[in-house]
Amino acid sequence: MLDRLKELGSEARAALQSAADVVELESVRVKYLGRKSELTQVSRGLKDLDPDERRSVGMAVNELKKELGVLLEQSKERLESAGEASAGLDLTLPGRMPWVGGKHPLTRTYERLESIFRGLGFEVALGPHVEDGFHNFDALNIPPDHPARDGWDTFYIDDEALLRTHTSPVQIRVMESRKPPIRIIAPGRVYRNETPDASHGSEFYQLEGLYVDRDVRFGELKGVLIRFMRELYGESVNLRFRAGFFPFTEPSTEVDVECLICQGTGCSVCSGTGWVELLGAGMVDPRVFEAVGYDPGEFTGYAFGLGVDRICMMMTGTDDIRLFLENDLRFLRQI
Ligand code: PHE
Repeated sequence: MLDRLKELGSEARAALQSAADVVELESVRVKYLGRKSELTQVSRGLKDLDPDERRSVGMAVNELKKELGVLLEQSKERLESAGEASAGLDLTLPGRMPWVGGKHPLTRTYERLESIFRGLGFEVALGPHVEDGFHNFDALNIPPDHPARDGWDTFYIDDEALLRTHTSPVQIRVMESRKPPIRIIAPGRVYRNETPDASHGSEFYQLEGLYVDRDVRFGELKGVLIRFMRELYGESVNLRFRAGFFPFTEPSTEVDVECLICQGTGCSVCSGTGWVELLGAGMVDPRVFEAVGYDPGEFTGYAFGLGVDRICMMMTGTDDIRLFLENDLRFLRQI
């Protein structure tokens, strides 16, 4: 009997090791360890043996069962991982990183601008995108038949309502609702009924600034704008103040920055001039103070409006403003 067990052991060992897959392994298990296997029958027959034989055979049966059980587990593990590898699973490959979402470049630019102006003492004010002619034009010294009104190509909603063409109406709304001193920035989207190209969008972002108090001077405006530009682009930034015209400021200026895309040598973003216009500014026109009920003899102030998209283009090296609204992930992921 013991010899038969030895034989059975070596047969079973060989079969377990040579099983080619998990299915074959299962039939090996059934054959050598299953309920109808020879080993099980020997176990069942133990009670008919005489005591000495029963003990030695019993021990041998138990040992063999234990050993075959261990071998069975090992073969199973070996065959399962081989199966995974042949199914194309290779656990040694490097992982794939998931894409992590991020803020839009315009949002990041705006947040940077906001933090610089907050540092200079400005607080944030907001206004509606759907405006009326009074706030968007009349109160800003642009009466209905004034030719300057054509300078802002307007989307009209009906006779009264329009999409704001700039953030300047927020100046009016803030001054209507409180008394000086006022020191605010008003960021937001504006709309122009014009054909978009690389440097003009029919919607884009502006950031308005307004400071009203007693004895505000043009030199303060210049100082704040230079301070702002240096915070944004570094101390060595090159700026150009040109005389300009806006109905709501007098005197007015337009401020250009040396094109950061081409370092002033001329490219498509600066239309070959080496300079990019970033903002309009000036001293608040007395007519504007009259429209909101302030005494122009008592208060003076300055205002400025800058193009957030232009600044974002300079900061990211983007040469087409339209890319910011298309939300093509291939573009956004590069920034
Ligand atoms: N609102 C003007 C524009 O959209 C910019 C501006 C704002 C100019 C404030 C002067 C003062 O072009």
